[in-house]
Amino acid sequence: MKPHRPTAPRSLSTLRLDLRPVAPADRDHLVALEADPEVMRFLNGGRPVPASGDANADFLTPRGTEPEVLVAHRRDTGHFIGWFALFDDGLVDGLRTAELGYRLHRAAWGQGFATEGVAALAAQALEQLGFDRVRAQTMAVNTGSRRVLDKTGFRHVGTVFPAFLRLLPGGEAGEVVYERQRPTRQGSGDDTATA
Ligand SMILES: CC(C)(COP(=O)(O)OP(=O)(O)OC[C@H]1O[C@@H](n2cnc3c(N)ncnc32)[C@H](O)[C@@H]1OP(=O)(O)O)[C@@H](O)C(=O)NCCC(=O)NCCS
Repeated sequence: MKPHRPTAPRSLSTLRLDLRPVAPADRDHLVALEADPEVMRFLNGGRPVPASGDANADFLTPRGTEPEVLVAHRRDTGHFIGWFALFDDGLVDGLRTAELGYRLHRAAWGQGFATEGVAALAAQALEQLGFDRVRAQTMAVNTGSRRVLDKTGFRHVGTVFPAFLRLLPGGEAGEVVYERQRPTRQGSGDDTATA
């Protein structure tokens, strides 16, 4: 079988944000983001991640060299607000599938930035990068993250119970899987739904 060619996300601009590939110079911002227990609450129960990263993490700890990660800055102030990422999962159930992730600085919460970035990156994946489906997974109790996905055209297709979740507060409710598919020629994203 031919190896799958990874497809990295590209720089993009939204109404208020500029997203561009992460670089080693972004490291301090990335480390500071993960040092905030509130940011890490639904990722590892709220433990600050050391600058060296967490080797046992079930989540991404970008440090500036990950082609899947776009850092986001506010265009008006130039401030770093966090990151959005898109992973190429290859062919899954016959569909070219990507996984989307995001982590924003607490000071940037509640202003619609996650919604703006997720909408734009999902559109790039489906309309420009050739993916058939974008998936995202978050703890069931992560209401904010779920709301972002609801607002950007994703739908809840299942709930999973990975072993590491048992250790986290709220983990008993599992992780919810959301997906959004490329619209079919008829214009409906639901026609090819698999779940
Ligand atoms: C989850 C997260 C991305 C939300 O980012 P955000 O920029 O604040 O989200 P938005 O402002 O776009 O809000 C989208 C919607 O979610 C709602 N929302 C956001 N945070 C919420 C919360 N903690 N509880 C309930 N609703 C919340 C908003 O009110 C909004 O809904 P509305 O338009 O109906 O009012 C952000 O809090 C974050 O980065 N958290 C830490 C990392 C994380 O959990 N990442 C996802 C794990 S995979």
